[in-house]
Amino acid sequence: MESLKRMFDLKGRKALVTGSSQGIGRAIAAGLAEYGADVMIHCASNRAKAEAARAEVEAFGARSGIVAADLADPGAAAVLRDATREAIGDPDILILNASVQIRKRWQEVTPEEYRVQADTNFASCLWAVQAFAPAMRARRWGRIVTVGSVQQVRPHPDMIVYSALKLALVNLVRSLAPDLAKDGVTINNLAPGAIETGRNEKVLSDEEYRRKVESKIPLGYIGEPRDCAGMALLLCSEAGRYITGQDVYVDGGMGMP
Ligand SMILES: NC(=O)c1ccc[n+]([C@@H]2O[C@H](COP(=O)([O-])OP(=O)(O)OC[C@H]3O[C@@H](n4cnc5c(N)ncnc54)[C@H](OP(=O)(O)O)[C@@H]3O)[C@@H](O)[C@H]2O)c1
Repeated sequence: MESLKRMFDLKGRKALVTGSSQGIGRAIAAGLAEYGADVMIHCASNRAKAEAARAEVEAFGARSGIVAADLADPGAAAVLRDATREAIGDPDILILNASVQIRKRWQEVTPEEYRVQADTNFASCLWAVQAFAPAMRARRWGRIVTVGSVQQVRPHPDMIVYSALKLALVNLVRSLAPDLAKDGVTINNLAPGAIETGRNEKVLSDEEYRRKVESKIPLGYIGEPRDCAGMALLLCSEAGRYITGQDVYVDGGMGMP
């Protein structure tokens, strides 16, 4: 029988993780590299942080590279594909993690703020799947993971566009899963709960706000980026080959019905 341990081995696999210069994306990139994958790092513009993430990945012996691109630009998917191909080859694993989050009361959201979140958080995932899935299908092996949010089911009132787009990713996953499955490509949504990253450092430094968030988490504490890496590894490895079209929460129980 196939060794379960070996089924988690990603040696010979190539991955692109969007938004991997920090936070959850960086932890997933490091986790995939630790299990043997070559990993392309992506950022919007922060090259210094991307370099640090690349060094972390390379410390595991992985090949790596960096690509900077604003995902609000529909041309970004081609930039990501070409740069990744040149640095490590066509990826077998695509983690669509980057997003922008604009906190505003719903009455004050502008059309431009809507557009930038819709383009970056939802449309860019569709363009990326269009750009990367054909090579995965041709090889009859691929793993795609969108990164959603517990806000799919616990929407924050000041993030109406962000939370709606995260739920839209679940539909994207369900729409594409049956077609991609024909060629050995799985697609799933990983929905983190409250995870301490650069994005929420400031709000979580307010002790009262932090306690309010913690009180909504059955496990009682805010997660670390690394807490999302184990699930990503499962979904992207041979061990996760029978999982597709799913919406999986890594949230300390925050989103449970
Ligand atoms: N942290 C949480 O509590 C939490 C909870 C639920 C869901 N999530 C989701 O988990 C994912 C990662 O969150 P995080 O907290 O780790 O994020 P983060 O710390 O804010 O990091 C965001 C990453 O995305 C990149 N990025 C930002 N805007 C971009 C754009 N327009 N185009 C391309 N790349 C862009 C950033 O690049 P630069 O460094 O160059 O700016 C960075 O690498 C997101 O999808 C988020 O919605 C997070």
